[in-house]
Amino acid sequence: MTLATWTDLVYLVAAVGFIYALKGLSSPRHARRGNLVGAAAAALAIAFTFSNPALRSSGTNLVLAIVAMVVGAAIAVPTARLVKMTAMPQMVAIFNGVGGGAAALISLTVFLIEDPGKPAVYRIGEVLFGVLVGCVSFSGSAIAFAKLQELMTGRPVTYPGQQVINALVGLAILGLALATLVTGSTPLLVVMAVLALALGVIFVLPIGGADVPVLISLLNAFTGLAVAASGFTLNSNLLIVAGTLVGASGILLTRMMSQAMGRSLPNILFSAFGSVVTAGGGADGSGETRPVKAGTPEDIGVLLAYARKVVIVPGYGLAVAQAQHTIRELADLLTDKGVEVFYAIHPVAGRMPGHMNVLLAEANVPYDELKEMDEANPEMSTADVALVVGANDTVNPAAQTSPGSPIYGMPIIHADQAEHVIFLKRSMRPGFAGIDNELLFDPKTTLLFGDAKDSLTKLVNVVKSS
Ligand code: TAP
Repeated sequence: MTLATWTDLVYLVAAVGFIYALKGLSSPRHARRGNLVGAAAAALAIAFTFSNPALRSSGTNLVLAIVAMVVGAAIAVPTARLVKMTAMPQMVAIFNGVGGGAAALISLTVFLIEDPGKPAVYRIGEVLFGVLVGCVSFSGSAIAFAKLQELMTGRPVTYPGQQVINALVGLAILGLALATLVTGSTPLLVVMAVLALALGVIFVLPIGGADVPVLISLLNAFTGLAVAASGFTLNSNLLIVAGTLVGASGILLTRMMSQAMGRSLPNILFSAFGSVVTAGGGADGSGETRPVKAGTPEDIGVLLAYARKVVIVPGYGLAVAQAQHTIRELADLLTDKGVEVFYAIHPVAGRMPGHMNVLLAEANVPYDELKEMDEANPEMSTADVALVVGANDTVNPAAQTSPGSPIYGMPIIHADQAEHVIFLKRSMRPGFAGIDNELLFDPKTTLLFGDAKDSLTKLVNVVKSS
């Protein structure tokens, strides 16, 4: 067999590995294995690429490639190890952005090398696509990172004539792309790349913080498509397959997230949803003056210990408090006392897809105690207690009852149907959507104020002694 045949064969094995990895990632049960298989497939593909005689004979390229890999790994490995779970979306944004930027640079470099002889139109088309989509993904991801990292405001940034400016930049890019296609001119391509970077910025600026995770998933799909385009440019089947997989899965994920939020993608991208903030006037930043029923750990602990069925509804605050181990301890204690306990998982609880699954898996919560929203909801009316830990929007009845609400249409966990509702939160501040939650004022609701980990530790002590 020739080296080319071996390369194709190994790349085919790697591509199958990527598909298997995606399949594994679709369930918390196999996610770890899926991740390992994906990493092994990537390592195999990289190792085999280095066996390419063309690369080995060109000493400079080899050294440059190794230096780039060492620098990249030195930054990425500690960052990924040290990143807090709540900061994961911005890490994904920035890693995704550099992927898009790299794809754009590859396409641009190939074009520069093939110049001055004008390449075939289809070759220019591949390069144009890779540069355009890769640049938008790079600069858009950088702004998404800045928003989530609070390096800039998370609110939508709007200014007069925004639509007109966006349209003009879009038209200019289209014109330059057509001109490059006809002339094969490098300077025109470079100007288009600069405008594409600007487009990424102005596309993301008006999108509010609450919608940024959906945007990141979309930009992730863009990066995949840019990588696939650079695969065509480099004649690499593996890059084409890997890029297409990322593109397709990113688009599917974006769609699923929009559906779980009960909103269309155009509405998320163009409606400046994150600007809607109804809170902000009160001493605790909530603007609320109505009384609520606040409980003590003793009352609530006893209520839990003597309940028949307790449904735990985890949310973003559980991740902030890093209380996953303490909630598991409480659930185990209750189960030992004969209480039926399960976790109701909303698809967009937290700040990233699967956030709660990953968090609870960290505490080795058995998978059969996790119920997806559709499975959990029919059981809510039979629960004695819905224990809402750091969740808010995902149990807010306004999503079902208030047509004017920014979260109207989002399916919710029906905590309101349980006999008693307990909220563990620090204040009356709203959730990410910035809107009040009537369930907090319901007569059947009791609030236990404080950091979720502290409150859960107190509840554990009470249940232990009940
Ligand atoms: P949120 O509605 O954001 O509510 C989180 C609650 O946790 C807040 O009420 C906050 O109240 C409380 N909290 C924060 N830190 C806490 C701590 N240390 N201890 C106790 N409580 C704490 O959370 P959710 O119900 O999970 O909803 C997620 C939101 O994010 C939805 O609006 C969803 O659409 C949006 N979103 C999610 C995703 C994905 S993929 N997950 C993507 C895009 C948007 P206090 O400040 O008073 O403590």
